[in-house]
Amino acid sequence: MTDEHSLMLQPDVAGLEKAAALLAGGGLVSFPTETVYGLGADARNDTAVAKIFAAKGRPSFNPLIVHVADLAGAETFCVFNDTARALAQAFWPGALTLVLPLRADAAVSQLVTAGLGTLGVRVPDHPVALGLLARFGGPVAAPSANPSGRISPTTAAHVAAGLGGRIDAIVDGGACPVGVESTIVNCVGEPALLRAGGIPLEALEACLGRPLARLADPAVPTAPGQLESHYAPRGKVRLNAPYAEEGEVLLGFGPVDADLNLSAAGDLTEAAARLFACLHQLDAMGAERIAVSPIPDHGLGQAINDRLKRAAAPR
Ligand code: TXA
Ligand code: MG
Repeated sequence: MTDEHSLMLQPDVAGLEKAAALLAGGGLVSFPTETVYGLGADARNDTAVAKIFAAKGRPSFNPLIVHVADLAGAETFCVFNDTARALAQAFWPGALTLVLPLRADAAVSQLVTAGLGTLGVRVPDHPVALGLLARFGGPVAAPSANPSGRISPTTAAHVAAGLGGRIDAIVDGGACPVGVESTIVNCVGEPALLRAGGIPLEALEACLGRPLARLADPAVPTAPGQLESHYAPRGKVRLNAPYAEEGEVLLGFGPVDADLNLSAAGDLTEAAARLFACLHQLDAMGAERIAVSPIPDHGLGQAINDRLKRAAAPR
């Protein structure tokens, strides 16, 4: 790790081999997934995982998601029931994290699970992430690659701006296509939604053939992104604003006269992909008061509204 900057790697064979070697040596490597950039470390290596918390300045009660190459890899760490296996088969590789009982013999650092008896696991749907996992050949613990409490990165430049110099390398795989984090489903017992994300609730329910329970108590500290002021830009955020008041910058959705627009066409997929880049841009503009257009609360709109509510929470 250098003092001023992290190594910027290309997503080619040489870059992926270097990234895998850094992981094997206990280093920290940020890499693109379809959702957001992750900050990866060898999930079996306590020291390496501890470095993730140090680099992010993250409260240590927050467990990490482990990224694996395929379902067989996930089964070596977790106990799957029929529901979990059906969800994995339907949505992996993809933006779905399953929380499952940790196998007694699982070689995963206690820091990854924050001492819980469960593990969050997923197979990312991104050629660079999958290429890195194949070359590394082991489980990669990776939270989003942002300093704790700041907006998740969807480009290598976002990662460099937040964590440059504090991590060994960044693999530049361009902009993340989905743009919001994975959906998290707790599959210990009856399946329950822990975090809205890149796979819409409706798609999960169609697969299950029944409604998915929501987390009973959103204040439970194992819930993802549960810190209320997570995802916050520096400015004060006002939601469901049909138009901006004096002194506000409008983050629009749909055909409105906005300073920045998540999707002028009113397309939720485009809005999700642009959400964090727009929040970063509001910071860059020095926006102090931000009004946000109403966003429909279905499909990816649920994940977008969840992140925006956190952005607007008092802090
Ligand atoms: O899309 C994503 O999920 C991205 C990319 C990099 O994969 N990762 C991500 O990680 O968003 P992170 O650490 O920023 O958020 C993961 C959330 C945490 O808030 C944590 O509470 C939850 O997952 N989580 C992880 N393991 C868990 C467990 N065993 N039980 C409950 N929640 C868990
Ligand atoms: Mg995060």
